[in-house]
Amino acid sequence: MAFRTIWENEEGNVVVIDQRFLPHQHVETELVTYLDALAAIKDMVVRGAPLIGVTASYGVFLAARTFKILPDYKHRMLKAINELRNSRPTAVNLFWALNKMQAVVEASDEESLIENTRNAAREICENDVETCRMIGVHGLPIIEEIYARTQKTVNILTHCNAGMLGCVEWGTISSPIYQAVEKGIPVHVWVDETRPRNQGANLTAYEFEKHDVPYTVVVDNTGGHLMQHGMVDMAIVGADRVTSNGDVANKIGTYLKALAAADNDVPFFVALPSTTIDWEMDNGKNIPIEERDPNEVKYVFGKMDNGEFGKVLITPKNARAANFGFDVTPARLVTALITERGICKASTEGLKNLFHGE
Ligand code: MRU
Repeated sequence: MAFRTIWENEEGNVVVIDQRFLPHQHVETELVTYLDALAAIKDMVVRGAPLIGVTASYGVFLAARTFKILPDYKHRMLKAINELRNSRPTAVNLFWALNKMQAVVEASDEESLIENTRNAAREICENDVETCRMIGVHGLPIIEEIYARTQKTVNILTHCNAGMLGCVEWGTISSPIYQAVEKGIPVHVWVDETRPRNQGANLTAYEFEKHDVPYTVVVDNTGGHLMQHGMVDMAIVGADRVTSNGDVANKIGTYLKALAAADNDVPFFVALPSTTIDWEMDNGKNIPIEERDPNEVKYVFGKMDNGEFGKVLITPKNARAANFGFDVTPARLVTALITERGICKASTEGLKNLFHGE
């Protein structure tokens, strides 16, 4: 792949791409302390379930660098981990990664703390790369099968950004797409703009442009129409949390796409790393749904014709707005889950069989 979304620089700091400026500007931001990592997650400098988890892991390493010399460093480390835990509520990768990092902190002494946390963060980061590559290996045959059957460009619909910008490299939904393109299969992706933060219009479009994947941005409500007219062969989305029965929390609007897909016999796939599975939660009704600032709904942020960035009010000034970040698609609407281990039915049995009850 052409680039990564998070890496370590020569000074030993962590660098991320500030996704708030994409697609117009490539801005790289150094994370020097854990508070920088915390702000990067909260302010959506980085976003996407896997990348949130990786950034939080590096945040723990950065906390170790700051606190190691202090007598009560362990107490401070645990406090920092808890602050990171409270950064965003829905993507379970965050909690998975921080539990792992906490275990490393607890098992480390003062001497080994920095090295152990850096190695653990690196491992979480590298694993994400390989995991996403494998999601592509398992998802590719789905695209190949459609192409073999139709001998026409495979039209794929996606929502939000579950590409490499939500991960470290490859992405979840984009990995099978990139691997299909590499094999010479003609694909075209319908990219939902994904109001209010426009992850589709800003990020997925940017990514596909960079990787020469043909795409078309559509407004969020277009999917049903496209499906009714045979213009979508498959839908594929990412996930922020999949409960042990196969219910899927993903960016707001995903559920409506799944309903339209079911009504039109369009297969609806969810691509996810196993770190997105919440084995402790047995259905999606209990998933905490993030509610963000209503101003994200009331204003649209972008680049003006004069080249400057700005935000524009699109509602009456005093309009009340609600900003639910995610919704839950019931397992029954999901054709299959595509993971690094393989493909399974979105069900308790399906997940158990694939992961042997882990
Ligand atoms: O609010 P965001 O941008 O963090 O939401 C991201 C999504 O909903 C993605 O689809 C999901 O995290 C999967 S990223 C591989």
